[in-house]
Amino acid sequence: MPQDRFAQIISLCRRRGFIFQGSEIYGGLSSFWDYGPLGSLIKKKIKDIWWKEYVENRADIFGLDSAIIMHENVFVASGHLEGFADYLVDCPGCKKRFRIDKIEKIAPDLYTCPECAGEINTIQNKPRKFNLMLKTNVSATEDEPQYAYLRPETAQGIFANYLNVMNTYHKKLPLGIAQIGKAFRNEVTTGSYIFRMKEFEQMEIEYFTYPEEAAQCYREWVSERFRFYIETIGLKKENLRLREHSSDELAHYARACTDVEYLFPFGWSELEGIADRGDYDLTQHAKVSKKDLSYFDNVRDTRFMPYVIEPSAGVDRTFFAVICDAYDEEEVKGKKRVVLRLKPHLAPYTLAVFPLLKNRGEIVDLAKKIFYDIKEKMPVLYDDTGAIGKLYRRQDEIGTPFCATVDVDSVSDQKVTIRNRDTMQQERVEIGRIAEYIKTVKGTV
Ligand code: GAP
Repeated sequence: MPQDRFAQIISLCRRRGFIFQGSEIYGGLSSFWDYGPLGSLIKKKIKDIWWKEYVENRADIFGLDSAIIMHENVFVASGHLEGFADYLVDCPGCKKRFRIDKIEKIAPDLYTCPECAGEINTIQNKPRKFNLMLKTNVSATEDEPQYAYLRPETAQGIFANYLNVMNTYHKKLPLGIAQIGKAFRNEVTTGSYIFRMKEFEQMEIEYFTYPEEAAQCYREWVSERFRFYIETIGLKKENLRLREHSSDELAHYARACTDVEYLFPFGWSELEGIADRGDYDLTQHAKVSKKDLSYFDNVRDTRFMPYVIEPSAGVDRTFFAVICDAYDEEEVKGKKRVVLRLKPHLAPYTLAVFPLLKNRGEIVDLAKKIFYDIKEKMPVLYDDTGAIGKLYRRQDEIGTPFCATVDVDSVSDQKVTIRNRDTMQQERVEIGRIAEYIKTVKGTV
């Protein structure tokens, strides 16, 4: 997808209230974004779908909602305070700062500045370590600070509660704990819109299993998560691929990792990482907390530290991929039509209802009645703020699969005209059958 298409997508998201710059009325806060009325609807649907698939529909995975701010020792144990850092270097020419692993190396100590194309000599400009953790003071007084940290991954809330869940549920392995929630990183390389933010949301599962079954479990999660994006979310298969990490790019806790990548407007980039974390986290937390986190298997009569497979997805990146996948432009009667071909189960509204003439009381009343009757069955919107052509285009842009127009004849024949977003075909449908008609279109409600 070309870069200008990227600009069109950002503009649409702003114009139609999907995404706004964080703190915008004060000039904005870089790398923070807010979801508007339509964006928050889609985001909620993504999270609900994931939760239903893995927590509600499975017997082996349990939900959790842990605190965002956590004790310093959690991150001493997890290794984030020590190891969760980027190496940064300053360009002597343009004075911009870059992640060393993200810039082109032309000789052992020589790099090309991505901004001004000047040379960066890393002997003269030594790379410096920059920790990504966000720290806060949770003490009541400023002179006696007690520092705590905003979690950089929801995973740590899961590890810190592993024993609580095991003890309260008396569950056997394999067992997963799932969590959706905010995570925070003081990212250095930002930009790329909502792709890399300082505050973002994750959907993570820590799946605890037997060490000897971990490798197979890892492979199963990789294929399951790939399947999820195609079949459950509905992204185009050609825009998705799997990429296995080489050993030098693995996170400090991982034994293996595979990314699900999406073809974003700026190229193939990570949507999700599925990692084999081995027994790293439980061993570390056991050591620092001095709690016994080992597992006793009474059938096998052995005690061991469970291994963990972690499918870790980004809510915001999934949202971004959904919008990029759906964005389309076409020419209709010599005019550009922007249409968001969202899969119906992800569209903010399934149906929009319009009165053809807003100065005719009986038409407006009927349209409003239809709106209120259908509201219980599907997400529906009422709009009478423009001419019909304009109202259709507006719904095309926000991805509403169907529009129902109430006209003069509707009052007598009790039928409306239903227009399909993708085909633009129109059909007369009895008012009492609108919901049923829409449900015949696969995946609508
Ligand atoms: N618990 C493992 C973990 O956090 P990660 O690869 O660093 O692994 C997992 O993050 C997912 O979280 C990524 O694939 C991405 O979707 C999302 N993510 C990570 N950092 C992000 C950021 N700065 N902005 C938006 N999403 C981010």
